[in-house]
Amino acid sequence: MGRFSLKGLTLFLLIALLVWSSTFEVCNARRGKHWRQSRGITSASLSKKKGKTHGGSHHQGISGGGRGSKPTKSPPPAPKPGKGYKGPKEPTPVPPPGKGFSGSHGAVFDVLHFGAKGDGKTDDTKLEGTIIAPTSSDAWGSGLLQWLEFTKLRGITIKGGGIIDGQGSVWWQDSPFDDSTDSEARLIVPITDEPPTTVNPRIPINSTLGRKMPSIKPTALRFYGSYNVTVTGITIQNSPQCHLKFDNCIGVQVYNMTTNSPGDSLNTDGIHLQNSKDVLIHSTNLACGDDCVSIQTGCSNVYIHNVNCGPGHGISIGGLGRDNTKACVSNITVRDIMMHNTMTGVRIKTWQGGSGSVQGVLFSNIQVSEVQLPIVIDQFYCDKSTCKNQTSAVSLSGITYERIRGTYTVKPVHLACSDSLPCIDVTLTAIQLKPIQERYHLYDPFCWQTFGELSTPTVPPIGCLQIGKPSSNRIQSDGDTC
Ligand SMILES: *[C@@H]1O[C@H](CO)[C@@H](O)[C@H](O)[C@H]1NC(C)=O
Ligand SMILES: *[C@@H]1O[C@H](CO)[C@@H](O)[C@H](O)[C@H]1NC(C)=O
Ligand SMILES: *[C@@H]1O[C@H](CO)[C@@H](O)[C@H](O)[C@H]1NC(C)=O
Ligand SMILES: *[C@@H]1O[C@H](CO)[C@@H](O)[C@H](O)[C@H]1NC(C)=O
Ligand SMILES: *[C@@H]1O[C@H](CO)[C@@H](O)[C@H](O)[C@H]1NC(C)=O
Repeated sequence: MGRFSLKGLTLFLLIALLVWSSTFEVCNARRGKHWRQSRGITSASLSKKKGKTHGGSHHQGISGGGRGSKPTKSPPPAPKPGKGYKGPKEPTPVPPPGKGFSGSHGAVFDVLHFGAKGDGKTDDTKLEGTIIAPTSSDAWGSGLLQWLEFTKLRGITIKGGGIIDGQGSVWWQDSPFDDSTDSEARLIVPITDEPPTTVNPRIPINSTLGRKMPSIKPTALRFYGSYNVTVTGITIQNSPQCHLKFDNCIGVQVYNMTTNSPGDSLNTDGIHLQNSKDVLIHSTNLACGDDCVSIQTGCSNVYIHNVNCGPGHGISIGGLGRDNTKACVSNITVRDIMMHNTMTGVRIKTWQGGSGSVQGVLFSNIQVSEVQLPIVIDQFYCDKSTCKNQTSAVSLSGITYERIRGTYTVKPVHLACSDSLPCIDVTLTAIQLKPIQERYHLYDPFCWQTFGELSTPTVPPIGCLQIGKPSSNRIQSDGDTC
């Protein structure tokens, strides 16, 4: 038993990475955006890492090909993936004792010994069994931004029925300094006038070794700078923070997978997209404590369909433009979604003071049930108690809502746009939302500086939308062109 918990570890892990022309690099998670890159062209690894240097890792991992060196012999054939695949036909090679799970030192597994082919054609990445994160604060050191990370790969596929379990409960309430609350929580007023239930009590929970967890919480699985990434079949649960993240990726497919965390787990996005293009997410169940899908700056051509979301905070674009940054998001389609018991449904949130634009968003056929705020645009996003008023804003245009139906428990529509840069071309079609009185005050639809059209009558009537375009031209600076 090492310093991190391997309790209940049923590791029947067979993972082999596609290593064709690719590098799976060892990354040092630090604050900031620095990775150490391995020089090897043909190497792959799946590692849990920590600390400033790889050598100091307390985590086990799997990595292949020998970092920085090419494999000297041709790899054994990969197991054939396919329906009903239960594992390799031949006995699974077991890592040498003391190497894989020695506890206090990082470990490296050669994926080629596990049957990786790495010829760029064979689909040879498979995750079965459960990978469990350590829950001792020692194992995480001063904290890290991601637990499992893949960077700069081409054509990587992670598939299988495996589970990645972040054991996040030791982290969720252990952050007295993390006072960021979702801005929309303040729109939700309980009838009893108790504080909003979405605000977690700040009771520090000690980790298994009695020490507090680091304030930097890791994302469970992250892909960075990669092309043509596919994630399918797996379950990611109880992540300390975000479950699955794509950063600077082009060509992402996620389907038939699950994220699973309780609704009160703070800041646990299901799938987080940033600077990523050509993304397809479908046939997926997302339950978490924050956004089921979060679409951040630099994303375009994102198509999300047939997703179940809840609990969670719905599917969100943003928050964009924080700290006066420029944000660009375009061509986003979200359709055929079921949301149950989420805080918001479909939402666009931007901070005051930002620039750039969100253009071309379609939310279609969203079935909501017991959703607090099904339709939200919030250009005054603020996770502190007050944010100063600023004139510049991320501009919003071409936002279409069609066939958003079901039940809400607080307010059906909340469209709050910037005074200086009103939202334009907002179209609402076939909206049918019925109230359910739960524990909250109910409100009528709200719009502020929102222009566009109602192409059909809506239930309830949305009289606050301003038909047409704003009379004066919107103040738009050069910084807004994306
Ligand atoms: C957490 O650990 C601290 C320091 O070891 C201790 O003082 C405190 O009582 C513990 N709290 C709980 C809730 O166990
Ligand atoms: C990604 O996949 C597409 C479609 O299969 C292919 O055309 C493209 O070349 C791939 N991109 C890279 C960088 O491998
Ligand atoms: C979905 O993934 C599961 C493993 O989690 C697998 O058993 C099942 O066959 C997959 N279904 C499809 C349609 O791919
Ligand atoms: C918008 O994104 C979709 C994928 O969701 C893509 O098929 C389409 O070509 C994109 N449209 C433009 C104009 O880029
Ligand atoms: C910001 O503007 C809003 C609306 O005009 C106003 O109610 C609020 O008091 C202002 N806040 C600050 C901090 O100036």
